[in-house]
Amino acid sequence: MKTLEIRRPDDLHLHFRDGDALGYTVPATANVFRRAIVMPNLVPPVTTVALASEYRDRILEVVPEGRAFEPLMVLYLRDDTSAEELIAAAKSDFVHGVKLYPAGATTNSKSGVTDITALYPQMEVMEAHGLPLLIHGEVTDPSVDVFDREKLFIETHLEKIVRKFTKLKIVFEHITSQAAAEFVAAAPDNVAATITPQHLMHNRNDMLVGGIKPHLYCLPILKAQADQAALRKAVASGSPKFFLGTDSAPHATLTKESSCGCAGCYSAPIALPLYATIFEELDILDKLEAFASLHGPRFYGLEVSEERVVLERGPLTVPDRLDYVSEDGVVPLGAGMTLPWRMKTES
Ligand code: NCD
Ligand code: ZN
Repeated sequence: MKTLEIRRPDDLHLHFRDGDALGYTVPATANVFRRAIVMPNLVPPVTTVALASEYRDRILEVVPEGRAFEPLMVLYLRDDTSAEELIAAAKSDFVHGVKLYPAGATTNSKSGVTDITALYPQMEVMEAHGLPLLIHGEVTDPSVDVFDREKLFIETHLEKIVRKFTKLKIVFEHITSQAAAEFVAAAPDNVAATITPQHLMHNRNDMLVGGIKPHLYCLPILKAQADQAALRKAVASGSPKFFLGTDSAPHATLTKESSCGCAGCYSAPIALPLYATIFEELDILDKLEAFASLHGPRFYGLEVSEERVVLERGPLTVPDRLDYVSEDGVVPLGAGMTLPWRMKTES
């Protein structure tokens, strides 16, 4: 196969950041994707419809000419998020979900949720108004091993939420473990999951053996080979419960190459060739379009894209560094790798 044409994909989980960073992150995504679910973990976080609207305007300002890119905004759920705010979000035509970060679980999650069961009243409102709940699924108890935090979140919280809210759309974000893949596959249809390129491509050995690779450090952290295999099996199943969410999360190079490095992998500009490479390895290229462009919008109740993008045979050498807000730039996922697929540039 020399080219692969698919509907323009949607990235159902990413981080654009704010301010000058938008000038880099938004075009990179808008040149490939039709829409993106934009994470609200800014400082301060996007907690209200008004803040989401202002953030959306800042994003739209830097969408390249001629691109029909649409940012799908998300509110950051807090212990004190009011029912009125959630209803206003559901009524708006630009807020598409509410994100639950357990407090302290990941980058900029300090003001996240401290008691998940105390938020059941808010979840009831979201369920009644058709507003999806997007979950960073890790417990934060310091006594729990970092590799077990996702599994324990399922047992401690997610099973209960799924049992109680049978009509609430729940996206288990960036799943990383066999436990999560199996949980979602067996869950009712109101539960889905996004899967990142890094968790399909790598396991913790890649990050920790032969020297530490800070650019592979993201949260939830890369797991064991068996977990990676389970995620690959999940996408290979073709189940509509699994869809593309890059979790593209840029951090300036020196903040990752540090004695206390930040979590997050930046993949937006090369995400689609990365996924195509993985899907080809698994011999499931015929399932790429559904994963990238159909399952996500259908779950969120959005029209699928009518526009198309074309991938062509590479090689594509992923740059060692890309321009970003700081002088040292950003090291993308797959830096230095040669991929067999690249985006065909439009003439
Ligand atoms: C994300 C970030 O940098 O904002 N980091 C990450 O490791 N994935 C936050 C998140 O999605 O957990
Ligand atoms: Zn994320």
